[in-house]
Amino acid sequence: MQHYTSLNDLDSLLITVQEAIELKKNQLQFKTLGEGKTICLLFFNNSLRTRLSTQKAAQNLGMNTIVMNFGSEGWELEFEDGVVMNQNKSEHVKEAAKVIAQYCDIVAIRAFASLTDKEKDKDEMVINSFKKYAGIPVVNMESATGHPLQALADAITIEEFKTVKKPKVVLSWAPHPKALPHAVANSFVEMMLLQDMDFVITHPKGYELNPEITKNSTIEYNQEKAFENADFVYVKNWSSFNDYGKVVNTDVNWMITTDKMKITNNAKFMHCLPVRRNVIVADEVLDSENSIVIQQANNRTYSAQIVLKKILENL
Ligand code: CP
Repeated sequence: MQHYTSLNDLDSLLITVQEAIELKKNQLQFKTLGEGKTICLLFFNNSLRTRLSTQKAAQNLGMNTIVMNFGSEGWELEFEDGVVMNQNKSEHVKEAAKVIAQYCDIVAIRAFASLTDKEKDKDEMVINSFKKYAGIPVVNMESATGHPLQALADAITIEEFKTVKKPKVVLSWAPHPKALPHAVANSFVEMMLLQDMDFVITHPKGYELNPEITKNSTIEYNQEKAFENADFVYVKNWSSFNDYGKVVNTDVNWMITTDKMKITNNAKFMHCLPVRRNVIVADEVLDSENSIVIQQANNRTYSAQIVLKKILENL
């Protein structure tokens, strides 16, 4: 594998999930594969899980890691061509990407959506500029439109916890005071559509995701109806896609409660974290035995490790 910027970079999601589960049983079995290799992790936005799990994954493979909080520590980058750079931006990505590529063998990038310019966000300017100019493998640690490392960890988690061959999985919107990106939800949908699952998306009207991503997924506007017989409830907030980046509804009745979970088939509760307690989900659900958010976060290491292993094998 050359890059990992979307789930489509995997030859097979299902095989990769099985490989990750095997890797997890002995996470140091490839500890010499990355010897002498370095990964630069560039964060234009905050992180807890992605930063630590990707570092751990790289170290499990014997790699050196360099982490830079680009958003607060780096020069502000210009991405447009032909610009007279007489304003705030000090360095063009053309130089920055080429310079960074001299210090590492793989570059991993977190750069969230602006949520103000739909077309620019769809163009994935940051990730694609690094792909264009760095000339080394690029890993997406959450971009404007996708979070494929999270989705791979989610697929691993569902595989580990499913008790039937074809579980019912519900992706539910839940309220949040701030406008959040679509990346996690997008990649989760893409991941579900690569598998034979009974998949339902539920959200209030106005929160339809990009139809180019949801394709012919079932959308149920009645959350309680969607939860009937669910084996997994995956919860996430996102802002409006049509009214781009806007919070069009903050209906607190969409919060996940114990009563709603009782409608399900004793479903497991999933969330990528961080999660706002008693806004997205009630304490009793998050603290219940059915909550697998900690195990889900643990799988971020094996998701990143299997991806880095595939890239290292191709270097
Ligand atoms: N789920 C996730 O990406 O977590 P962080 O934002 O903390 O990295």
